[in-house]
Amino acid sequence: MSNVLLRDRVSLDGDWNVIVDPYDMGYVGILGDRTNRGFFRDFRPRHPGDRVEYDFDASPTLTVPGDWNTQDERLFYYEGTVWYRRKINVAPGWFEDGRVFLYVGAANHTSRVFLDGEELAIHVGGFSPFAVELTGRLDPGQHSLVIQVDNRREPDRIPAMRCDWWNFGGLTRAVELVSVPKIFLRHAWVTMSPSGAIIGGVEIDGADAPVELSIPACGIDTTVNPGERFEFAASPERWSPGAPVLHDVQWSCEDDQLIDEVGFRTVRTEGEKILVNDEVTFLRGISLHAEATHGGRRSQGADDASELYDHVERLGANFTRLAHYQHDEHMLREADRRGVLAWCEMPVYWSIAFDEPHVLENAIEQLDELILRDRSRASVIFWSIANETPNTPERTAFLSQLASRARQLDDTRLVSAALLTPPTAATDQHVDDPLGAAIDTVAVNQYLGWYYGERSDIATTTWSCPHGKPIIFTEFGAGAKAGRHGRPDEIWTEEFQAAVYEAQLVMINANRSDLGRGPVAGISPWILKDFRAPVRVLPGIQDGYNRKGLLSEEGDEKLAFNVLREFYQ
Ligand code: GCU
Repeated sequence: MSNVLLRDRVSLDGDWNVIVDPYDMGYVGILGDRTNRGFFRDFRPRHPGDRVEYDFDASPTLTVPGDWNTQDERLFYYEGTVWYRRKINVAPGWFEDGRVFLYVGAANHTSRVFLDGEELAIHVGGFSPFAVELTGRLDPGQHSLVIQVDNRREPDRIPAMRCDWWNFGGLTRAVELVSVPKIFLRHAWVTMSPSGAIIGGVEIDGADAPVELSIPACGIDTTVNPGERFEFAASPERWSPGAPVLHDVQWSCEDDQLIDEVGFRTVRTEGEKILVNDEVTFLRGISLHAEATHGGRRSQGADDASELYDHVERLGANFTRLAHYQHDEHMLREADRRGVLAWCEMPVYWSIAFDEPHVLENAIEQLDELILRDRSRASVIFWSIANETPNTPERTAFLSQLASRARQLDDTRLVSAALLTPPTAATDQHVDDPLGAAIDTVAVNQYLGWYYGERSDIATTTWSCPHGKPIIFTEFGAGAKAGRHGRPDEIWTEEFQAAVYEAQLVMINANRSDLGRGPVAGISPWILKDFRAPVRVLPGIQDGYNRKGLLSEEGDEKLAFNVLREFYQ
């Protein structure tokens, strides 16, 4: 279900009792078979002799939403299962008429949902929302809601065994009860096609019924058929970067009603250029992880989104790459309100099991969840299906299927993937990856002047690709410890990082497609802020942080922040 933020909700956020269960003994017996007396039963001793070897009431708590790693230092490196339990007290009259769903904004990585001891659902994917129907199960009185969350890395998971970010575990986004009428709008989306038409679709749940759609700004007040794509000619005032015009959109079906705020803009490519509202637009971007501006914790909710976009705006960026997984819905609604374009990505990152059919199945699930939630967001112009994956036939076949699935769900936006360019020091970089044929823009992560190449060669480097499509530098940059100063050739100093940016921006300026100089249509340097990463172990410098941020983990500006801001201004 989508548009949940537009609905009446009962929040289940707050302190939940938890049991840390590294051996999964709350779900399986000593021989690994599923036990019927697991923690999900939330048993209490029934008599003095009754042996129950766990007790949620007496167990510690963790705050939801939130990662467990930064709430309890004993869980900082923990990868395994944690059981969350919350009592729900249902008052008489609640949920009597309609239907009720449990909505989890995100739970990393795999989670099972139990109500009153019964297993109701499993969800695989750490960054996307899911809903579980509880209709008829929440009679007045107290109920036990248990969610088993396991953030283990596994070779057949997405992402798989290695990533350059912290594997934050837990119920990392809001958990809510959502009540809807018997017949409700499960999905309802509207946006603008590249040709400027108002297009969209609606899916209802419960029974067949006509859906009323009203968009006053487009002069649209009509009935649309569920399951069918609709298309109308209209010319509302456009949403554009820096001018975020949003219009009321009202959906109603039987007793259900949704009122959304939607911007209408077109996006397309023309050769090596990207056009927004038919205007050649250079993407002045920045990459972000979903990490809060303070405390190195998983970000979530409206306040974190607002703080992160405050920095984006200070930088003068018109584009954000939300890496490498689905970010909180609040981020996209904030981008809509602030007029900043967005790149949304699913966590097919580095190597995954591209030859496993069940992995492709889950990839499609995660892609669907990425697109179905944010299809009405004007800010979103890219669906990215992967980051830095090996150039093998299995991978290209796997990702080509994802690209066509993305277009099936939404052919109004650009489909892309961040490619790993072979680290050559050459000053004539040619990006020749077969995946380039399946995507609309060739996104390149290049680290000239950091992982490879001489800084002195950067400025004169030229770029090309055989597909005649726009190239976007979805990553470039260098590491620096905030407050560490020295000569520009001294690594980890702010001066070193700033010098890499200066050289890169000279090169980028010389290759810009909006200025007719080359194939580069945009950039999203790596990265807005230092972020936690277990692979970054250099004492006194990294200490568990990737230091390529333009801001420190506490928001202190490094010199390179101003180098980029001046370029954007
Ligand atoms: C890669 C990767 C990022 C990583 C970055 C780095 O390109 O996509 O996730 O953090 O490089 O090495 O800093």
